[in-house]
Amino acid sequence: MRVTGQSCLMRTVALTLALSLAACTATTTAPESPASGSEGDAARGLAFAEATCGSCHRVAAGLEMSPYPAAPPFEEIANTPGMTRLALGVWMQSSHPSMPQLVVEPEQLDDVHAYLLTLKRGG
Ligand code: HEC
Repeated sequence: MRVTGQSCLMRTVALTLALSLAACTATTTAPESPASGSEGDAARGLAFAEATCGSCHRVAAGLEMSPYPAAPPFEEIANTPGMTRLALGVWMQSSHPSMPQLVVEPEQLDDVHAYLLTLKRGG
């Protein structure tokens, strides 16, 4: 059977589709914006939090109370719905009557957030 003009057109359509798909993929693999945060290091986050937040919050997983009972244990913070990296950053940058305003570098918050993720129950 001879190749008809119709199948030639189909090939052009397929090629155009493939090209536009490639263009879409290129836009979705753009570098992450700073707002989404980098991965962070959970072990560093634990060490930092023990040193900086541990005087009030129970940082490690376990059953004891927080040293300062008004401060929720990190395990509880980790399992609070909506406690994202962004929410953590907003919390740390706003002032609270019961928690001092601590100046924490974004990289350190990335680490603390990575550590919080390890405390999350049910995946
Ligand atoms: C001097 C004591 C103290 C220190 C130090 C401290 N916190 Fe807190 N934190 C509190 C108290 C008290 C609350 C509860 C505040 C409230 O509910 O109004 C709190 C609440 C929070 C919450 C909100 C929890 C929620 O469910 O809304 C987050 C997140 C948090 N702390 C993170 C941190 C991190 C991260 C550090 C260390 C970088 C830290 N805190 C250090 C006392 C402290």
